[in-house]
Amino acid sequence: MATPLHDVDLPEFDLFDPAFNADPFGTLHRLAGEHRLLSTPFGLIVLRYDDCQAALRQPNLHQGIRLLQDMQGITDERFVARNRQSILTTEGDAHTRLRKLVSKAFTPRATERLRPLMREVIERLVDPVAPLGRVDFVDAISEPYPIPIICALFGAPTEDLPLFSRWATDILKSLGFNLANDLPAILAAEDEMDRYMEELIARRRSEPLDDLLTDLIVAEEAGDRLSHDELIMMAEAIMLAGTDTTRNQLATGIWLFAQHPEQWALLAAEPQRAANAAEEVLRFNGVVRSTIRVAVDDIEVAGVLVPSGTLIIPSFAAANRDETYFADPMRFDITRTFERSHLTFGGGIHYCLGANLARAELTEALAVLARRLPGLELDGKATWRPPIGIQGPTSLPIRFRPGA
Ligand code: HEM
Repeated sequence: MATPLHDVDLPEFDLFDPAFNADPFGTLHRLAGEHRLLSTPFGLIVLRYDDCQAALRQPNLHQGIRLLQDMQGITDERFVARNRQSILTTEGDAHTRLRKLVSKAFTPRATERLRPLMREVIERLVDPVAPLGRVDFVDAISEPYPIPIICALFGAPTEDLPLFSRWATDILKSLGFNLANDLPAILAAEDEMDRYMEELIARRRSEPLDDLLTDLIVAEEAGDRLSHDELIMMAEAIMLAGTDTTRNQLATGIWLFAQHPEQWALLAAEPQRAANAAEEVLRFNGVVRSTIRVAVDDIEVAGVLVPSGTLIIPSFAAANRDETYFADPMRFDITRTFERSHLTFGGGIHYCLGANLARAELTEALAVLARRLPGLELDGKATWRPPIGIQGPTSLPIRFRPGA
């Protein structure tokens, strides 16, 4: 029988403690050795792999992204309504229905057909910087990398890349902590993208192509299809969930490799290790370090009975270094064999829809970069995003042997 929350004495944890922010993975790993849960003013942090996995699979823990908006007092009707319908926030039957329909489009084939483009894009981005021997990796490579791929998913013409790039930047602000300020830009970008997508969908209905948008239009489950509004919602969810994550994960990976030159040289010599290297980057320093859920009933979480309304924060950063499943977890090792998958793509019903695509994007990029950026090193200090939300460097000066 689980102990009620008010009867347990959980350690208080300060998310803004500079010592934690200086070494988040080390701090969480140490705490996970002693505790299963930590208490914060926002909610409870779940530390261990099995407990996180169980929380992600618990039907009475619902997606908490909406709380971000509630906590910031956002009441704009259009914004709130739009977010309520998103695959990222719906639950239960509504979510299952959407998920079934869109999974038909997110097939392994959908990912495979984009691999040549991924290689082409990364080669094209490296071409002008390879002779220089030094560059800001974020500006030159990781920031632009996912945009042409997202464009290709929708079959959008390449001359529209700057539009997608601008929308991605603005729409992504809806996952931030400055919503009141950013709302006009977010809504303007959403409106523009709505209009663009409407035209694109109309065109695709009359002229189907071999792309994700066509697959989403024709996806059918027992006579059911995505409505026009749902198609637009999906396009935006993909933009929101699939751009910033990938670019930050790639930059974080390069930052890691710059400090592990022997692993970088190994990857260059044995590019067939790129898929495993991508998994290790995702495990060791995933850019999504946690998610939020809210209990919609009194339920057990990590051995404690928590009341309905409690905010639960499964910590992927802690779980990914749980030694129950990851031997020598504090070591970055691209030759590691994975007994269990890391949790950087989440788990349960909201498991990342784009996981295969993200894996392919990272794998293709790492294989090319290891060959073309030999002798990779940091060329100064990286600067980082604030320690909330998607993580990653905002600038990453690197140097390498020119000419490859
Ligand atoms: C390194 C890259 C990525 C990471 C680390 C990542 C991580 C995640 C995580 C942790 C979740 C679950 C969130 C939660 O449970 O609260 C998620 C959901 C999602 N991701 Fe990703 N993601 C990545 C790339 C992508 C890409 C490339 C796409 C699409 C093209 C994508 C589309 C989605 C969608 C649509 C969901 C919502 C699924 C649902 O709620 O049913 N993601 N992602």
